Amino acid sequence: MPDAPITIAIDGPSGSGKSSVSKAVARELGLGYLDTGAMYRALAWWCLEREIDLADQPSVAQAARELPLVMGTDPDDSSVRVGGTDVGAAIRETRISEQVSAVATNLDVRAELRRRQRELIEQERRRHGGVVVEGRDITTVVAPDAEHRILVTASEDARLSRRATELHGAAAAEQLAATHDQVVRRDRDDATVSAFFEPADGVVGLDTSDLTFEQSVRAVLDIVHGAVPVTAAGPPDPGTPHTPDAEEHR
Ligand code: DC
Repeated sequence: MPDAPITIAIDGPSGSGKSSVSKAVARELGLGYLDTGAMYRALAWWCLEREIDLADQPSVAQAARELPLVMGTDPDDSSVRVGGTDVGAAIRETRISEQVSAVATNLDVRAELRRRQRELIEQERRRHGGVVVEGRDITTVVAPDAEHRILVTASEDARLSRRATELHGAAAAEQLAATHDQVVRRDRDDATVSAFFEPADGVVGLDTSDLTFEQSVRAVLDIVHGAVPVTAAGPPDPGTPHTPDAEEHR
């Protein structure tokens, strides 16, 4: 366990490799792990189970407040349970991936899940000396005071190819086309409520386009161990400071 609790906040678009890298970093450092995207997915799953129209924003926000969600925070067993049901596999199904942005762009939902995420971060800091938290708005909104804040990016080609291989086992034209909606359209929708393509001030940018999985994990560990200063990783042009999104005013 580290001497003082640490939070490592990791954001990035779909297919950037942030989930597997975050999990490996948590394992390596003996920290808890929180996948905040899984929380949005669990809510989408629960609304569909209860036949709540995802476009009905007040009903979805009410469902968020009532959601009986238990997040596993062990990087070796990051289970997701809703009302006692293990939904770990169900929330990865295409029907959820296709529809989850409707839930994630609901600002009242975000307020509720952000509250729960902060509680879980505090819990992990007390119990396990810290946590690796991954998502889209962790570095900017959920945990802007985190000890380490990293934005993991990759080129669109790299992200499409990784997601196609993960979902369909190959990255030929057919699989790339089948994955396009889940990566490009979804990121475009999600980017209307969170800024996750450019690192905010003080956030270290890590481009993994040409890195293997092992190299990406090593790069994050180097950042955490202080081998890479924030300024060396290319923060935003000082002439164009990070513009807070609607979320950050809430
Ligand atoms: O990372 P993922 O694909 O499992 O995320 C699922 C959805 O939740 C995706 O549409 C982005 C959204 N999300 C978000 O808006 N904020 C977060 N902190 C995490 C995920």
